[in-house]
Amino acid sequence: MHGHLPEGYLADALRRDAAFGLTSAPKWLPPKWFYDARGSTLFEEITRLPEYYPTRAEREILERHAADVAATLPAHTLIELGSGSSEKTRLLLDALRAAGTLERYVPVDVSEPALVEAAEALLREYPGLAVDAVVSDFDAELGIPDEPGPKLVAFLGGTLGNLNPDERAAFLAAVRAKLRTGDGLLLGADLVKDPEVLVRAYDDAQGVTADFNRNVLRVLNRELDGDFDVERFEHVALWNSEQEWIEMRLRSRGDQAVKLRDLDLAVEFADGEELRTEISAKFRVSGLTMELERAGFVVSRWWTDRENRFGVALAMPF
Ligand code: AVJ
Repeated sequence: MHGHLPEGYLADALRRDAAFGLTSAPKWLPPKWFYDARGSTLFEEITRLPEYYPTRAEREILERHAADVAATLPAHTLIELGSGSSEKTRLLLDALRAAGTLERYVPVDVSEPALVEAAEALLREYPGLAVDAVVSDFDAELGIPDEPGPKLVAFLGGTLGNLNPDERAAFLAAVRAKLRTGDGLLLGADLVKDPEVLVRAYDDAQGVTADFNRNVLRVLNRELDGDFDVERFEHVALWNSEQEWIEMRLRSRGDQAVKLRDLDLAVEFADGEELRTEISAKFRVSGLTMELERAGFVVSRWWTDRENRFGVALAMPF
């Protein structure tokens, strides 16, 4: 286990984000605060919903093409950003091990408990594999170690879509700066498609995504001594066709005044007022290829699932 966040780092970041976002017009919060233990469980439930196709589509791609990845990029080290439970990672680890190049796996995540759990399972399942977990928040620092030998950085799940275009450019450039010739970036991205399919994926019939969305208010209540009446906020998912992203919002049912005592902050919501909690950008192969090129990568391969819903790019620094 390497690196750690400075004492109080996450608590400070949450205070800053809440104080800034809830006093902005329109109000907003970054999506990273969904993921406490309950939020992480809800997200895993989302990935099994019939409407939420990205996880299955990406898994299909990795099942079919992990061997191509390993053949194109004979990595000694696999570094996974935002590794979470490292579930799809096994497909890559198996392929790199079959190719005979794999020595080390470096999961990077903001959640230390998630890392410990994932690392322990992988140490058991892959005898001989070195697992160097890194606790890091890539808002602050990527946590990509400078390893000898070819390394493959994987950023899967479509999480790139949580960044706006400027943040994306900065993120891709920062990853590029950590790579040399012979290294690679494996990037999963959800693709633009029928808006009805997209909206359904973020507004499921069972209401799991609604519960996930509202979870951020529970996090604020607990961490900042707040008094959000969580059930008085309605889940909203909409397609922004100009930006080509899904937006999740929480819409106030009625006028409400909320207090966050730790921040000495009172926040008023008018009836119908919306708080933006997430953007989830959807990509076109051509557009994302250009973004990667602007960041100093060439895309050597693009794979999509059979229904063309999701894409995985293997990009190399130039
Ligand atoms: C984990 C960011 C990829 O944007 O699809 C799922 C999060 N939000 N349902 C996504 C999410 C609502 C997910 N990512």
